[in-house]
Amino acid sequence: MGKGFEGLSVRHLLVLSVALNVGLFLKLAYEREVNFGTEQIFHGFCAEEEPHQREISLFSSSSMAANAEKASNYFHPSSWSASSIDELDDDGRIINLDQWNSGGPTASTQAGHISDDIYINHHDLTLNVSLPPPPRVGSNISGDPTMYERYWQQAGDKTTVVISGWQSMSYFSDVRNLCWFLEPEFAKEVIRLHNIVGNAITEGRHIVVGTGSTQLFQAALYALSSYGANEPISIVSATPYYSFYRQVVEYMKSGLYQWAGDASSFNEDKPYIELITSPNNPDGFMRQPIVNRTGGMLVHDFAYYWPQYTPITSPADHDIMLFTVSKSTGHAGMRIGWAVVKDEDVAKRMTKFIELNSIGVSKDSQLRAAKILQAVSDSSEHGGDVEEGRNFFEVNYHLIAERWNQLREAVKQSGLFSTPAFPAAFCNYSNRTFRTQPAFAWLKCEGKIDDCESFLRGHKILTRSGKHFGVSPQYVRISMLDRDSNYHLFIKRLRGMRYNLE
Ligand SMILES: Cc1ncc(COP(=O)(O)O)c(C=O)c1O
Repeated sequence: MGKGFEGLSVRHLLVLSVALNVGLFLKLAYEREVNFGTEQIFHGFCAEEEPHQREISLFSSSSMAANAEKASNYFHPSSWSASSIDELDDDGRIINLDQWNSGGPTASTQAGHISDDIYINHHDLTLNVSLPPPPRVGSNISGDPTMYERYWQQAGDKTTVVISGWQSMSYFSDVRNLCWFLEPEFAKEVIRLHNIVGNAITEGRHIVVGTGSTQLFQAALYALSSYGANEPISIVSATPYYSFYRQVVEYMKSGLYQWAGDASSFNEDKPYIELITSPNNPDGFMRQPIVNRTGGMLVHDFAYYWPQYTPITSPADHDIMLFTVSKSTGHAGMRIGWAVVKDEDVAKRMTKFIELNSIGVSKDSQLRAAKILQAVSDSSEHGGDVEEGRNFFEVNYHLIAERWNQLREAVKQSGLFSTPAFPAAFCNYSNRTFRTQPAFAWLKCEGKIDDCESFLRGHKILTRSGKHFGVSPQYVRISMLDRDSNYHLFIKRLRGMRYNLE
């Protein structure tokens, strides 16, 4: 018997063995519970999205090639006429058109889950295993850009990436680059796409890759606020602002920066960082900085400055510009974003933040993102293969335009809501004049409805209240990028609302 066990009586050993077995049993029970929860979620998801799931499994089976062959027939946007929407069977399900209403901590707390602590005594080591609350059964992240799935399913295996076990193992991608974890292939495709679309100047700029633009946003705050100020720098954004900004700024209680709210009422004579989202989330308008004081630093979030959403009027040229695959190609789950940065020192500091935060960014994701961006560029170079309807931006421009038409008609028909009116502009990429058609609809409840979110929840439509964006609860934000089945059911319910009120 080993040295550590000397002096132990049979009774001690018996107690130890029971403790180990109980520990093992609890671990197995926990794993079963977690797996069970996951299975339930999957089951719920499959039940709701059966046709979609079937297409996914086809996609990964041997019929991939056959799918690719069929692809060119599918690229044309779906044509959902008013009558086909009317014919939809409303099964009374909850339609979640709120990006974050998805079973996060708040939802779990509301569901009343308890976090159990288990203490396992193993030799002289005490493990405190805190069980997370089980995931909410049936939850799904709606407001995801899942509308794009169809395009990518139909693209066949053009974007399939195979990464062998021995590949992308090192922490490093290119040690000569200031951003040493940036995959050269990804950087190349980022630059190529910006050049084709014409939405950003990249020449002479530094590319910093991040785990989504959410990480880059924090890297930018770190970079700009770490120049030795003796008090936290103010972060402002004009209302209605992207609600996540505020949460991200506040949750770390950083000593470097603090949330200072609406940019239009910021009048302090000290340094600040202004966040400019253009087109804006949630209301879709193109934005310019509004504080314009000395000591101001700007971060431009261009998540939606792509030609399926808004006319590309000129290549953007600002100090820090953030982009993401989440909204440009719909690959939110890949968690890849990039920053185009003018100043070398700022780019270095952003890189340092990501080094300290996550020691770089997944290479696998970067390689996959490179493949996706390459496919988008191939489809859209020289205007793309518009005839065959394969141009990524064209296909999705038409899809979103169709959705906005349906929304505007439904809004008109119900008489209960209003949507913003956007000015038209000429798009240098598509050579057409059109109005911004944002990824979110900023809906206002008119008349006597003061709380639009509650009103729509009464119709089993989950949205996000204006109060989260620093404005009145008469407004709600609605995702326009959900799957067809959810979006069209939402339109059907909207159209029927006048009847329901009377
Ligand atoms: C304006 C804006 N910026 C950034 C993001 C998040 O991007 P990512 O998924 O790359 O973190 C979103 C997501 O909704 C957004 O609306």
